[in-house]
Amino acid sequence: MINFHKDHANLVNVAFVVFALLSTGIAVAPALTLTETNAPLPDMPVMTAQERRGLEVYVNEGCMGCHTQQVRNIEMDKTWGSRPSIPADYYYSKQRLNVWQQSPSVLGSERTGPDLTNVGVRQASSQWQYLHLYNPRLVVKGSIMPRYGWLFHEVDSADVKPGDVVLPIPADKLPDPGRKVVASAKAQDLVAYLLSLKQAPLPSGVQADAFLRTPGAGGEKVAAAAGEAPAVDGAAVFSQVCAACHQQDAKGLPGAFPALAGSSVVNQEDPTQMIDIVLGGYNARASEGYGPMPPQAEVLTDEQIVAVVNHVRSNFGNNAPPAKIETVKAERAEIAPQTMLP
Ligand code: HEC
Ligand code: HEC
Repeated sequence: MINFHKDHANLVNVAFVVFALLSTGIAVAPALTLTETNAPLPDMPVMTAQERRGLEVYVNEGCMGCHTQQVRNIEMDKTWGSRPSIPADYYYSKQRLNVWQQSPSVLGSERTGPDLTNVGVRQASSQWQYLHLYNPRLVVKGSIMPRYGWLFHEVDSADVKPGDVVLPIPADKLPDPGRKVVASAKAQDLVAYLLSLKQAPLPSGVQADAFLRTPGAGGEKVAAAAGEAPAVDGAAVFSQVCAACHQQDAKGLPGAFPALAGSSVVNQEDPTQMIDIVLGGYNARASEGYGPMPPQAEVLTDEQIVAVVNHVRSNFGNNAPPAKIETVKAERAEIAPQTMLP
């Protein structure tokens, strides 16, 4: 019998063996199996140096305290990605940070804010991201996300250098009208990282896992019988997608996002240009200080687009005849031939 009382070397050795066995069983073996059974997705882009620096800012600022990056395979997570996350998704940096650190796990466990797995697709405008980090309340009224003001600095208008990223803050919201707010290098890295967050496509022929219906969730819209377009609520699409920039009252944010209320583009008799803008994005008003509007072809289905276009055209004081889904289909075929959604 091993005597623990008289020979303390036994105590140390046995404790060490138990420690080694547990570590192997709980950490090392599962990690090896994971690396063996998973490979990086072939079309997953390697992170640029700037995106990696942005990832570090993301970790240092503790963003994963409120944001997850994991799309679970249940119905309610459908809004966060086109498919449930798989282990291979987390090879995203394809390299360790250094010898001692694996790519940090930013899966998160707490969703005080939305999941960010696919935020680069959902919120592809760097202008929006800068404004939102500088002060979330500028673009999302009533947001409870803290502001990250220390990632920005104020300079006199005369001191803005070429190459500086100046935030399109409406004049009445500037801390001091004579000064401008400029993004620091850290903010630029962080935004580059956020915009790079996109679900990588699966290799062709590989089927994505299905989303499981959450038991008892109920209330989902029942897809209409074949041939009929399913009922899509244009007002809901507007709130979820367009309001982030054009604001809930469609009055926009002067200097950053134009108003859709009373817009001459929206009120055109022929809806084609408006549909083109929603599908393919828009950058015609740079001279007025507006940044580009990101294309929504990959974010929205044809049914959602026709619903939201008609909602905007017949609300907020606008009055234009409704668009037809055939126009959206025809324009999509022309504008975004290789888009992922039907
Ligand atoms: C205290 C919790 C909290 C922290 C910490 C936090 N956020 Fe948020 N975030 C939110 C909430 C709530 C929202 C939803 C409201 C909004 O859009 O402002 C949000 C929204 C977002 C969105 C928009 C997502 C979408 O789908 O529209 C982005 C991007 C984002 N946060 C990035 C960050 C980054 C980057 C950090 C770290 C620098 C961070 N957040 C830290 C709570 C938080
Ligand atoms: C990420 C921010 C953002 C989102 C989301 C967004 N837009 Fe835009 N939108 C813009 C910006 C910026 C412009 C101005 C682009 C320019 O002309 O340079 C614009 C312009 C437009 C215009 C032209 C308005 C005019 O009078 O010139 C229409 C129409 C429009 N958006 C509709 C929509 C609809 C409908 C949605 C939702 C499906 C939407 N947008 C979502 C940022 C956004």
